[in-house]
Amino acid sequence: MSQFELKDDQNHPRTQVPEFTRMVEQNLSRRRFLGGAAALGAVAFFSASPISRAMAAATGRSPLLGFEAVPTSTADTVVVPPGYKAERLISWGDPLFSNVAEFINGGGNTSADQSGQFGDNNDGMSFFPVDDNTAILAINNEYTNYELMFAHQGKNMTADDVKKAQAAHGVSVITIKKQADGWRFEKDGKFNRRINANTPMAIGGPARGHELMKTKADPRGEQALGTFNNCANGMTPWGTYLTCEENFNGYFGSAKSVEISPALTRYGVAAEDAGYQWHKFDDRFDLAKNPNEPNRFGWVVEIDPTDPNSTPIKRTALGRFKHENAELVIDKDGHAVVYLGDDERGEHLYRFVSEGKYNPNDRAANRNLLDKGTLYVAKFHAEEGELKGKGEWLELTFGKNGLTPENGFNSQAEVLIHARLAATQVGATTMDRPEWVAAHPTEPVVFCTLTNNKNRGTNDHQPVGGPNPRAENHYGQILRWQPANGRHTAGEFDWDLFLLAGNPTVHQNSLYAGSANINADNMFNSPDGIGFDQAGRLWVQTDGNYSNQGDFAGQGNNQMLCADPATGEIRRFLTGPVACEITGLTFSPDQKTLFVGVQHPGEELAGSHFPMGGNSTPRSSVMMITREDGGIIGA
Ligand code: FEO
Ligand code: CA
Ligand code: CA
Ligand code: CA
Repeated sequence: MSQFELKDDQNHPRTQVPEFTRMVEQNLSRRRFLGGAAALGAVAFFSASPISRAMAAATGRSPLLGFEAVPTSTADTVVVPPGYKAERLISWGDPLFSNVAEFINGGGNTSADQSGQFGDNNDGMSFFPVDDNTAILAINNEYTNYELMFAHQGKNMTADDVKKAQAAHGVSVITIKKQADGWRFEKDGKFNRRINANTPMAIGGPARGHELMKTKADPRGEQALGTFNNCANGMTPWGTYLTCEENFNGYFGSAKSVEISPALTRYGVAAEDAGYQWHKFDDRFDLAKNPNEPNRFGWVVEIDPTDPNSTPIKRTALGRFKHENAELVIDKDGHAVVYLGDDERGEHLYRFVSEGKYNPNDRAANRNLLDKGTLYVAKFHAEEGELKGKGEWLELTFGKNGLTPENGFNSQAEVLIHARLAATQVGATTMDRPEWVAAHPTEPVVFCTLTNNKNRGTNDHQPVGGPNPRAENHYGQILRWQPANGRHTAGEFDWDLFLLAGNPTVHQNSLYAGSANINADNMFNSPDGIGFDQAGRLWVQTDGNYSNQGDFAGQGNNQMLCADPATGEIRRFLTGPVACEITGLTFSPDQKTLFVGVQHPGEELAGSHFPMGGNSTPRSSVMMITREDGGIIGA
């Protein structure tokens, strides 16, 4: 079966089917009876070797995926395939230095403790080799769960509590050492560093020094304090880490009624914060006192993990939005190309192309490569009733495509600070929440998770169609595109959907059952983290509904799967503990250790005690996955 053939007919679960969805379903049903080549269109992108194709055809199984699938789970533990083991590397609250207090269950640590401890809610991460037995892991700490962080569960916040929460955000840089029994965290390691919501950072790129970036504390608009809601990540070939600021809006608020500009409203900034309460104790987050402070967040920040004294730099040329990750590839001609998702319902997918070229022989020469270049946003065109088509990158440059003073844009800095408004001005496609982007290691093809979108089809701004083919999309899909001529700098691309997540045990003969590469044994919802290993396996992590009921019956806890991009086969590799999200992945260079993030186990007091068990407070953790025979992960 092709990935997009529909499964057997049953009663249709919905009454109102959007026209685009109906046409796609009809086309897929028709193709099911035609079979053969017409049905295979969706997988024809990939030029896998003839041998691997033949093997896949002969066995019906991917030659890339060598492990036994794990079933879904609702247990409070990490489950990996037979022959694999999962060990804890580091958890929220572990001290990075020997003069720092250990984690105390029940919220007993102070802000001073937290500022030297591993941050909370680890998310994206990257592995930087130093020598054969030493490496650095740079790991995002996205946010906090007050119900676990404080004995009062956030109901009685103090100034020190806010400082503690701020100290739990940002990035943890840790030294790891290879021992006889595998990689281990090194307390007091020379690269250990905490970067948090108060760490001084430089502002780089076109928005540096702009009026909208100026505050009382920084009248020049050149230096920001800190980074927070660091979601996913990227790394550069010149050995730096990219950390991406996502839901920054929720940290700002005001006790007084305050006028919020339409631009800030587009980013979700409001007088009522998301519950963090920082503005009550720290004027920097009070919108009445510091109306420009939110403009200094929503950026990609570049960090040199090899120098604990280095100043992180906000790279404003990459645009301001709710960044997911930053997937950087060097095009054949040497330009750095960065793919960027904006994770919000009905927001957009972006691409940055550097003006300068990467110089592999001069690390210092690359350090400001991300300060100059062109930002683009994606527009998708679908073939009628098909889950594929053409796409184009629309330039977000001041003076072009209507980005002019008449439309409210007075400089490139404003285009970048208000990237969402610029994307709307040029007519970008509204997406089902773009999460991570991953580029294949050898083929010119790029994948992006569109995690879900309950609002699709409910308003004119988010019509059903193209790569967003389902109204009230609770399951998500994985988009892929192939740049024209195999060049990441090209203006156009061909796209299709690699998969539609769904639930074939609940829905039949509709796009909610999922694409044909989804079945009762591998189903999941809400793909989020993705990344390739060196062999071209696509690893997929979920941040979904773990109720295991209704639309999500049989899908269990959040999980991690592995797909063969050539055959479309997808197999479950790992299941996480209760109420967690699985997010963040990086491999050791020998591909024999996989680092995986378990984020917010036991959120909302869901009853997890992962990873320490007993009656302990659940803690976000980085896990190490290895094979008992020392082999390559996934093979
Ligand atoms: Fe932090 Fe879009 O996930
Ligand atoms: Ca995510
Ligand atoms: Ca998500
Ligand atoms: Ca998350």
